[in-house]
Amino acid sequence: MATIIDGKKLSEKIRSGLKSKVDYYKEKFGKVPGIAVILVGDDPASNVYVNMKEKSCNEAGYKSVVERISKDSSTDELLGLVNKYNKDNSIHGILVQLPLPKQIDEKKILFAINPAKDVDGFHPFNVGLMHIGEDTLYPCTPYGVMKMFEEYGIDLTGKNAVVLGRSNIVGKPMASLLIKANATVTICHSKTKNLPEVCAAADILVAAIGKANFVTREFVKPGAVVIDVGINRLEGKLVGDVKYDEVEPIASYITPVPGGVGPMTITMLMFNTMKAFEKTLM
Ligand code: GUN
Repeated sequence: MATIIDGKKLSEKIRSGLKSKVDYYKEKFGKVPGIAVILVGDDPASNVYVNMKEKSCNEAGYKSVVERISKDSSTDELLGLVNKYNKDNSIHGILVQLPLPKQIDEKKILFAINPAKDVDGFHPFNVGLMHIGEDTLYPCTPYGVMKMFEEYGIDLTGKNAVVLGRSNIVGKPMASLLIKANATVTICHSKTKNLPEVCAAADILVAAIGKANFVTREFVKPGAVVIDVGINRLEGKLVGDVKYDEVEPIASYITPVPGGVGPMTITMLMFNTMKAFEKTLM
């Protein structure tokens, strides 16, 4: 029987701390953190995320602006919006929801965001700082996973950590943050040989591949900590990358889906926006 890592509860705790900070700064300086979210097109999943971000930011007293623009928008139109918020002093965080439509040059957009407002931590300047072990704005999902380890007192020093997935949003930054925390890290992907064996050597297993129920019992060493970043729709239900019922009995800790890593992503977006805001007060 594993201990369930409750991302919803931890999120509420962090958000409540952020809300208190907002109240304090509002009173002291008459200023609140502001975030601009840009959504191109009408992808239903992205729309759900963007609505959740807006609601969460409003609840904590942040200023929140959402720009919804047509799926046919050009790179230049989107660049114009990014620049508008780069210049806006009431906005401390800019997030361009991914994925972007094909005609848009994603790199050009992400590289145009002022690194000081890059609350996704996707700008190469911030990615570079993270990789050399400096404090900066870290990508929200892996940063949320690190907060979970901290909250549950899971020590990473010298542990074998295996990250399943090599995306720029989760897999690669996850590996970087785990290295910073003194874990021995392996990244696996679709071309990895003997995948179940490699995963079964992990003390800490992070699954971020977007394949429903992919991680079965044979991937998991008894007593391992299993973090499920996947959010997949299967027969109308949300399921993770981990076959929960099979893995939970042998893991020491596990994150559920939903209610695990999911809520932490928006929480860490708010955390990063607060951090970017506080820098402007110094
Ligand atoms: N799409 C899926 N995850 C993310 C994220 O963390 N940030 C952005 N901007 N887009 C995403």
